[in-house]
Amino acid sequence: RKDNSEAWKGLPMKVLNSSIGSKDTLGPLQRVDTNHHVLFKTPFVYDGFKPPQPFAQYKDKWDVYHVRMPCSNFSEYPTTGRDGKPKVRRRWEMIQEALLGDIPGPFELEEKILSYNSRYFGKWSFDVLHKFFIEHLADEERNHFFSHTLKKIATLALQLPHLCTAPIPLLRANKNFKVTLSQQQIACLLANAFFCTFPRRNAKSKNSEYNKFPNINFNSLYMGQPYQKKFEKLKCIIHYFNRIAKKMPCGSVTFHRQYIEHMPKWDEDGTSLKGLHVASEGTIEDDGLGMLQVDFANMYLGGGVLGSGCVQEEIRFLICPEMLISRLITECLNKNECLIMTGCERFSNYDGYASSFEWKETYVDKTPRDSWGRIKCEVVAIDALVIREYKSQFLPGMVKRELSKAYCGFVHLGSTSSSRLSAVCTGNWGCGAFGGDKQLKALIQLMAAAKAGRDLCYFTFDDEAIRDQIYAIHHYLTSNNVLGIGDLLKLIEQYRCNVLKKNKSGLRLYGYIRTVFDGGFDDTDGDSNESLE
Ligand code: AR6
Repeated sequence: RKDNSEAWKGLPMKVLNSSIGSKDTLGPLQRVDTNHHVLFKTPFVYDGFKPPQPFAQYKDKWDVYHVRMPCSNFSEYPTTGRDGKPKVRRRWEMIQEALLGDIPGPFELEEKILSYNSRYFGKWSFDVLHKFFIEHLADEERNHFFSHTLKKIATLALQLPHLCTAPIPLLRANKNFKVTLSQQQIACLLANAFFCTFPRRNAKSKNSEYNKFPNINFNSLYMGQPYQKKFEKLKCIIHYFNRIAKKMPCGSVTFHRQYIEHMPKWDEDGTSLKGLHVASEGTIEDDGLGMLQVDFANMYLGGGVLGSGCVQEEIRFLICPEMLISRLITECLNKNECLIMTGCERFSNYDGYASSFEWKETYVDKTPRDSWGRIKCEVVAIDALVIREYKSQFLPGMVKRELSKAYCGFVHLGSTSSSRLSAVCTGNWGCGAFGGDKQLKALIQLMAAAKAGRDLCYFTFDDEAIRDQIYAIHHYLTSNNVLGIGDLLKLIEQYRCNVLKKNKSGLRLYGYIRTVFDGGFDDTDGDSNESLE
């Protein structure tokens, strides 16, 4: 980030706690914890050259607790035999047959994918794929893809029974659980998603086994508008495969579902706000080095990344495609849950946002790794509430839901009070696609970070007005009237009753809080008092 001192307020970035440079106390990765499954041989210590080694023997678990693997012996598919009679075949044999053969162009690619997904013949369209390769890419790029990249993706996909030998546990609801995979295993799983090989993951009905999971097969990326956005998404994905084909990364990644059964008693909580850096320039992914970075998530992780969505979460998943594997294993998030992804590497730079999003160029991730080979990058997915009616978000139940969600994302369970936790790096969480109020959500995140014992680094995404408002209220609440979380919740509720319910339009939350203390709030006066902000 350009050090534009005009653009930020509060604590300087360099005084915020960071995980970079802190002593690595992890030691070798051991397989000791029953709530942490490591899917390769341990003990493992990263040396920068050798990827973690999978277990020698493939072990199958075809049940509701594990990913149903495309290469499982139990994965079967109805076909028609030579005699015209119905015949059930092992799906993996069909996949092998398809992917071992030559795939010279997009029509053949479609044909191959449908050969082991024949139920979707006539239902899945591949219009994006056709247009992308035929109209959008230059001849040279297309030829490189079909003569080189695609073969590599196919070879990688077919290595599944040799690379992903241990059953992959699903991160089911209301459970604290961690899964660590090697980047190579993730690449192999993504190659399978590219070829749409995951069984039982295409059905859309309410009763289908995976209806509480996001989709993982990439077929939705290959069809439907808006074409331009999908072309750019495909570029991100293809770029990732090109990069790993050149050099397979040899680190690991941990997906950690965190569930908190008992939330703090918020109404009685006396914790006061901690440090703040707030800036109108900068982004979470570019400037959040060493901090706990927030993914403005959907309860179905990755949101519309394989469809038409293209805002903060989707973009993050596209520039760090390993995050897509969260969709394979994570059941949709409940209210007191989050997903922490540690170690996902970034492969791309982008330009624009939403409809103007474009893949720009390769990005070489120079973030150091920990002793387990994980890029020292922690991203926490927390899903805000969708706000359909402005005033409703100030209801105590809604405010506490968001506070608990953010706290669940920010708290580091098991850390001692003496350990210095990295700052939370966030921004207008829940205030874009989900329509929340920036003042309210910023205050909620400040409270949640304080309770979790972390400072907050907040990027307002070019919004200078909210930068100044957040800075001013934080300064006010930490220097003049030091209030605890419970007090702040009471003020929010008073604001709802005294201002919103009475339609005193114009007076916003921060203005109200200051009026209460500075001037005394006149309950009968309907005039707005925005000037206080
Ligand atoms: N760094 C900092 N701030 C950002 C960045 C960034 N890289 N990108 C965007 N912002 P939004 P939501 C700011 O709409 O409202 C997805 O589909 C920018 O001001 O992505 O929580 C998910 O899958 C933007 O308006 O988050 C969910 O379905 C604001 O953050 C849904 O969107 C909010 O970004 C979540 O919507």
